Amino acid sequence: METKVITIDHKDMDEAVLQEAGVIIQNGGLVAFPTETVYGLGGDALNKESSKKIYAAKGRPSDNPLIVHICSMEDLKAIVKEIPEAVERLAEAFWPGPLTIIMHKSEVVPKETTGGLDTVAVRMPSHPVALKFIECAGGYVAAPSANVSGRPSPTKAQYVIEDMNGKVDMILDGDGIDIGLESTIVDMTGDIPMILRPGYITKDMLEKVLGEVTIDKTILDVNCKEPPKAPGMRYRHYAPKAQLTIVEGEVAKTIQTINDFTKAAHVRGERVGIIGTEETKSDYIGDSIKSVGKRQDEESIARTLYTILREFDDEDINVIYSESFSECNMGQAIMNRLLKAAGHQIIYV
Ligand code: TXA
Ligand code: MG
Repeated sequence: METKVITIDHKDMDEAVLQEAGVIIQNGGLVAFPTETVYGLGGDALNKESSKKIYAAKGRPSDNPLIVHICSMEDLKAIVKEIPEAVERLAEAFWPGPLTIIMHKSEVVPKETTGGLDTVAVRMPSHPVALKFIECAGGYVAAPSANVSGRPSPTKAQYVIEDMNGKVDMILDGDGIDIGLESTIVDMTGDIPMILRPGYITKDMLEKVLGEVTIDKTILDVNCKEPPKAPGMRYRHYAPKAQLTIVEGEVAKTIQTINDFTKAAHVRGERVGIIGTEETKSDYIGDSIKSVGKRQDEESIARTLYTILREFDDEDINVIYSESFSECNMGQAIMNRLLKAAGHQIIYV
């Protein structure tokens, strides 16, 4: 399949391009598009054949449900059984934005889209290109992150092209991917709202609107034997090709330990990649030393993390060591993704 790549300026959108992209979706095709979190791989959420195509393009297991993206509150009614009052409050506070809400689905949403579940994940993104594109596509766009299953979610169009060229009809190349990690997922089908995936919208932010909110215990306890509630959190995700190990502890001790590991790796003839920060990058002796951002600025770390993981894949690196980061604000989402990338390999110093 020939993939059309079109650059689109989110500050001055060419509506004809978005109309063309919308028609592709309505005809059962696939279009990758930018959102404020990561790029999405879109298809018609109400067409089961489109959902099957999405799973095939990603190489994703079909029991891992897709998020349905909408562009207006009016459109929510048709795809859910009911809109609980708490969901209205959530939408008022955080939509459009990086929050995905799980509700009971209505008949119109095919099981192919929800991975066989009776619930549906819904998000209204804030990226202007995404909103206009969803409208042109008929209002309901199923979209996982636009990466091949197992790779980091794409935060740049070049990564979407790497993973999806020849597998989708169109790639909309737009900037404005400000957050860099996938949306927070909150399940509103139980008695108490539960976070299934941490993201930019934190527990504190949700509690201000909802009262008590819990977090799926598999996120907090890495040794938890129960399966996570969001099927996608089960799979080893975001994994770089080289083995990644996180070193956690006081900063000076962390640097010392990583440098010791690097020396040992060099003796074995291995090349070492390091994930440090603006403050520490000059203290390391590895072969490829990358700064993920400023230690106190979680947003900068979130924005850069996936880019760095992908860059290491293109370099001849055998092992990667990373510093650990604070769990404040977006820090919980950062550590959740980093731990998954490391296959939970963490050393405390
Ligand atoms: O920021 C995002 O959410 C991006 C952009 C493109 O919007 N999308 C994204 O989609 O990250 P994806 O498919 O890569 O991740 C969706 C996650 C998976 O872990 C999936 O298992 C979970 O949401 N999920 C979807 N529907 C669910 C449901 N009904 N119940 C529980 N988990 C669900
Ligand atoms: Mg994903």
